[in-house]
Amino acid sequence: MTPMADAVPLLRIAGLSAYYGELRAIYDIALDIREGDILAIIGANGAGKSTLLKSIVGLMNRGEAAHIRGRVEFRGRRLDTLETEAIVDAGVTLVPEGRRLFPRMTVEDNLRAGAFLPRLRPTADRRLAEIFGLFPKLRERRRQVVSEMSGGEQQMVAIGRALMSSPSLILFDELSLGLAPAVVDDIYRKVREIHAKGVTCVIIEQDMRRALAVANRVCVMLEGAIVLEGAPAELTEDAITAAYFGSER
Ligand SMILES: Nc1ncnc2c1ncn2[C@@H]1O[C@H](COP(=O)(O)OP(=O)(O)OP(=O)(O)O)[C@@H](O)[C@H]1O
Ligand SMILES: [Mg+2]
Repeated sequence: MTPMADAVPLLRIAGLSAYYGELRAIYDIALDIREGDILAIIGANGAGKSTLLKSIVGLMNRGEAAHIRGRVEFRGRRLDTLETEAIVDAGVTLVPEGRRLFPRMTVEDNLRAGAFLPRLRPTADRRLAEIFGLFPKLRERRRQVVSEMSGGEQQMVAIGRALMSSPSLILFDELSLGLAPAVVDDIYRKVREIHAKGVTCVIIEQDMRRALAVANRVCVMLEGAIVLEGAPAELTEDAITAAYFGSER
């Protein structure tokens, strides 16, 4: 890696707050994500985890209804002033909470929807083949309607769709929520493969042990703020639990 690449993080968040109307859901977030990181974000319901990811991908730029203050930079370039489409084009994509697939469309059509940008269309077939290589089951089921698939299969479609845009940074919101342990193991194997191909990963995970096992960095959110951050090896489970619930407990 060049010294420059070391100096400039892949994603830099500074002084970021996000509001739903009057409600400030996250405030004064500062966070650097380095190329090659697997960053796990943990925190209780309502801590602001999803809002943070939505802020990064331009889903909190809704005028009065939702807005952000502060900066988000990707490879040194401002993202916080861009629309979601331009952010995806820059190389940042979200696998949203609840997956948000097109339930009546086939697996293949859902995947192709991830290559909606004009720049991506010429290479969509090659990307699709790569995604089928990663998820052979999706190749078998390519003509199946998504609503007829299991939760784990749908999560694979959602991940595949995100990969169709050739991201450098992929944000997984609730990667394993509601899935059976064996399916979760499988999903995590895929995430490691994706990471091994050079994609930086941010994972929101309810299961603290899994988060600590996969990540090289962890941050804990509480009531809209990052209250603890570090490498899993440097943090004790007690410290993480205390941060998760707030120190008074
Ligand atoms: N669309 C919305 N409109 C108004 N308030 C919202 C909206 N979405 C989230 N909030 C509020 O913003 C705060 C942060 O919510 P967020 O969804 O980011 O938390 P989270 O950490 O992702 O929680 P969960 O673990 O339940 O997914 C909460 O107080 C929540 O009630
Ligand atoms: Mg959430």
